[in-house]
Amino acid sequence: MERISAIMDSFVASLDEGGEIENLYKSVPKGKRLRAKLILKIAKTSHEAPKLAAIIEMIHAASLLHDDVIDDANTRRGEESFNAKFGNKSAIMMGDILYSVAFSQLTKLPSSAAMCVSNAVALLSAGELMDVQLSDSFNTDKDKYMDMIYRKTASLIEASAKSAAILEGLNSEDFALYGKNLGIAFQIIDDVLDIVSDEKTLGKPALHDFKEGKVTLPYLYLYEKCSQKEREELKLLYKKELNAQDRVWIKEKMSRYGAIERSVKEAKELGYEALGAIEKYKIDGLKEIITQMIERDF
Ligand code: IPE
Ligand code: IPE
Ligand code: MG
Ligand code: MG
Ligand code: MG
Repeated sequence: MERISAIMDSFVASLDEGGEIENLYKSVPKGKRLRAKLILKIAKTSHEAPKLAAIIEMIHAASLLHDDVIDDANTRRGEESFNAKFGNKSAIMMGDILYSVAFSQLTKLPSSAAMCVSNAVALLSAGELMDVQLSDSFNTDKDKYMDMIYRKTASLIEASAKSAAILEGLNSEDFALYGKNLGIAFQIIDDVLDIVSDEKTLGKPALHDFKEGKVTLPYLYLYEKCSQKEREELKLLYKKELNAQDRVWIKEKMSRYGAIERSVKEAKELGYEALGAIEKYKIDGLKEIITQMIERDF
């Protein structure tokens, strides 16, 4: 992954902005690079694969800069988030810079791969917008939640797998299906981790989604199963700054009604479905990617 980071650095350096942006870019910490790993596993022999991986990671980093502004998040990748350090205005513009750098590099790739990635970025942004809109009031519609997470998260993972398959000359639709299901599963696990993990392990805020108005899958399942009285209690906690007692209440109800278990099971099923789409290619390591993305702690 060192190589991917070096390519990303060279993208930013190619802006030739007298070093100020390069310096600011150093304040963007590296993540798990799961999307890059996925691309390199699929496009094993393509000489353009590292470039594609760097472009996708740059787009992903840009989306997180904006996401932390949207979600009012103060930590990211184990550090103070960019918006917390430099303010929302700088975070938005830094996100725009990274998007633009990524798009100019994208024009150098085969047009079918470039088209697929740029479409996904439009979907991602529409998904983030939908997430904001769904957070206006307590959403109880699972279909809307699933559609939203497909757009905001799975679309880029789908495009990563699909564009890598295009570069490698593989059947792009099979890999798109793999990436789509994997991406939906990935976001469900992200939403579970928000509830079951802590800020130190995650490197980003924990139990933060509900406060931000997000009724994620575990909350949808809890709401579905709990009593009328508990529904009222849950709604009182919605968008509230949670105290220790509220946190215990949420976790205890999640466990009593099996909301976490049911969400994890659903993510795992999607993982198996993802695997089914590409099993026949016998590509080394794609099963491990699914495990890394689903059975993870952060
Ligand atoms: C975080 O993605 C945003 C989501 C789509 C859930 P990652 O968990 O892949 O973030 P990094 O890149 O490792 O920080
Ligand atoms: C996914 O949603 C973010 C993007 C698609 C950019 P989240 O808001 O849940 O991601 P985290 O938890 O902040 O990483
Ligand atoms: Mg967020
Ligand atoms: Mg968000
Ligand atoms: Mg999250």
